Amino acid sequence: MSQKAFDILAKKNQEALLGGGEARIAKQHKKGKLTARERLDLLLDEGSFEEIGKLVTHRSAEFGLDKQKFLGDGVVTGYGKIQGRLVYVFSQDFTVFGGSLSETHAEKICKVMDLAMQNGAPFIGLNDSGGARIQEGVVSLGGYADIFYRNVMASGVIPQISAIMGPCAGGAVYSPAMTDFIAMVEGSSYMFVTGPNVVKTVTHEEVTSEELGGAMTHASKSGVTHLTYANEVACLEGIKRLLSYLPQNCEDNAARIPSTQGKSVVKELNTIVPENPNQPYDIKDVIELVCDKASFYEIHKAFADNIVVGFARLDGRSIGIVANQPAILAGVLDIKASTKAARFVRFCDAFNIPLLVFEDVPGFLPGTDQEWNAIITNGAKLLYAFSEATVPRVTVITRKAYGGAYDVMNSKHIGADMNYAWPTAEIAVMGPKGAAEIIFRSEIKKSDDPEAKLQEKVDEYTEMFAHPYRAAARGFIDEVIIPENTRKKLISAFEMLENKAAKLPRKKHGNIPL
Ligand code: HXC
Repeated sequence: MSQKAFDILAKKNQEALLGGGEARIAKQHKKGKLTARERLDLLLDEGSFEEIGKLVTHRSAEFGLDKQKFLGDGVVTGYGKIQGRLVYVFSQDFTVFGGSLSETHAEKICKVMDLAMQNGAPFIGLNDSGGARIQEGVVSLGGYADIFYRNVMASGVIPQISAIMGPCAGGAVYSPAMTDFIAMVEGSSYMFVTGPNVVKTVTHEEVTSEELGGAMTHASKSGVTHLTYANEVACLEGIKRLLSYLPQNCEDNAARIPSTQGKSVVKELNTIVPENPNQPYDIKDVIELVCDKASFYEIHKAFADNIVVGFARLDGRSIGIVANQPAILAGVLDIKASTKAARFVRFCDAFNIPLLVFEDVPGFLPGTDQEWNAIITNGAKLLYAFSEATVPRVTVITRKAYGGAYDVMNSKHIGADMNYAWPTAEIAVMGPKGAAEIIFRSEIKKSDDPEAKLQEKVDEYTEMFAHPYRAAARGFIDEVIIPENTRKKLISAFEMLENKAAKLPRKKHGNIPL
């Protein structure tokens, strides 16, 4: 081959690496942002990235675009490895037309999505884009829809993870929204359907991009994002950690890693639940003590923190944890907590990740706000999600398990495999005080000393129901365990359930109350 042929290729490759050019790269750096390629270098194992479509250019001629062509057309796509595991990726290049999505840009993303599906490997998108390529009009919208459709087809087949590392606005937000996890970078990323200017025109609200759709807004107010990070490097590291708990696809199991802790007895668990049943404690202490050391990776940390969800390891096995948080609103179930947990349960079930539930719940949150915003429909989501989950499912009731929330929180009746209770568990229709006030109302009213009578009846009800033994007598609880043995019991239970094979009735799909 002639030297000229090599030179042409080298020149093109060099040109592609520069994206929108050195000046725009400098601008990107000045904003404290990395380039699309720098991000991939940090995300993927060294030297593992193989690029696809490096020399693709757009096909538009309007608005002088025929004179503005950049190799790669604003997105770097391909495959590589993370901790030795195959993943498919795209990384939008803001230096080329602001990372905006053209017809060919979309085609490149679709190509790797198709490969990811056909080869059963996770798909990770690094988003940094001004949205639809404005010069292309409807062609660009079509490109978005092609991606959305693939997101839906891939849902439940391969894990899909989105990082938002810059703007993500308009309909463009719906691709990340349909992936399994969204991670945002604090201070430099935002997501909204309509930006601050439109908001001002329509609703007269004055709001900044950060307030409207920044990382903290979506982490705490809307729950749109599952994870936030202080900077891009931390975000990419976080995605790698998240991936370590997940399998490659829905036919696969997450990798088990060697664990040295074994089935240890954990004495500290015996003193975690306070003697006063109304005193809070932090369920995350229980999680940390039961699971393998430092293995808990919380998801949706700042949203609906009256329920805790996240991944952890038990004797090296990846598990999904759902836990009521008695330290926040007494661990009550409300709309946000129910939807947060339901989505997490469905993810774990879709990807063969066993579920572990810690239960301490006084019931569903009362009030007009909850009722008018459909706690009925939203609470039902969690009930539905647990009921249809066929992965190994284990529950530990640490304290309260009252009312409908007892049924919902992975009870035996809705398909849990093993249900444990600590001796501190209280399993009943409602708390002793509420129960006594209802069933002994007239007796208390007629009494000379209503207060003393109420206390007497509360004590009576407590004696009768505020313990785990009625439920254990019925077999609703498989074993009442000493807290220090929880880790041992759980490791044995998940070991025992390792080959569980449960099937749902044949159907096209269920109709979860959306
Ligand atoms: C084409 C775009 C572009 C776009 C930015 N650029 N957005 N080119 N289509 N959508 C180009 C700019 O012309 C500029 O080119 C370069 O990208 C960087 O843009 P700046 O404005 O200089 O950057 P910055 O100040 O950081 O502002 C970023 C921005 C802003 C906030 C994203 O560019 C912006 O508002 N863009 C338009 C956003 C938008 O309205 N998109 C359409 C949304 S509707 P040069 O040559 O100067 O480097 C949508 C519908 C999707 O997306 C529907 C799916 C169903």
